[in-house]
Amino acid sequence: GSATRYEAEVSPAVCTGTIDSNWSGYSGTGFCNGDNTVGAYAQFAVNASTAGTATLRVQFANGAATARPASLIVNGSTVQTPSFEGTGAWTTWVAKTLTVTLNAGGNTIRFNPTTAGGLPNIDYLEV
Ligand code: GCU
Ligand code: CA
Repeated sequence: GSATRYEAEVSPAVCTGTIDSNWSGYSGTGFCNGDNTVGAYAQFAVNASTAGTATLRVQFANGAATARPASLIVNGSTVQTPSFEGTGAWTTWVAKTLTVTLNAGGNTIRFNPTTAGGLPNIDYLEV
């Protein structure tokens, strides 16, 4: 079926940082500007109708010169570490596609930066 969009600024999503709206092109009312530290994260509560493989699309912008890698943590387990490369500008939003395994029902999906640069700005997650 069609994807469900989970906005980073809509509870129960969590953003360790601020919800900002200063860089155009985002969806909804803002985006997660994570603090620039390894301890900051963006977390989403995702519902899956059935257990199994699911495609995630995370919409992000990274106007910094270097990549902002982050652990992709699904239900408490780190499953991969996408790079979140520079997109050229904070107003250039790009979708990164990631494949994960979800449980039927509720799932917690978190992006935890692995470097002191922190996360890219994160707009939403689609599942
Ligand atoms: C700038 C930019 C923010 C971004 C931050 C960062 O301050 O305005 O949107 O989050 O850089 O480097 O993380
Ligand atoms: Ca930031």
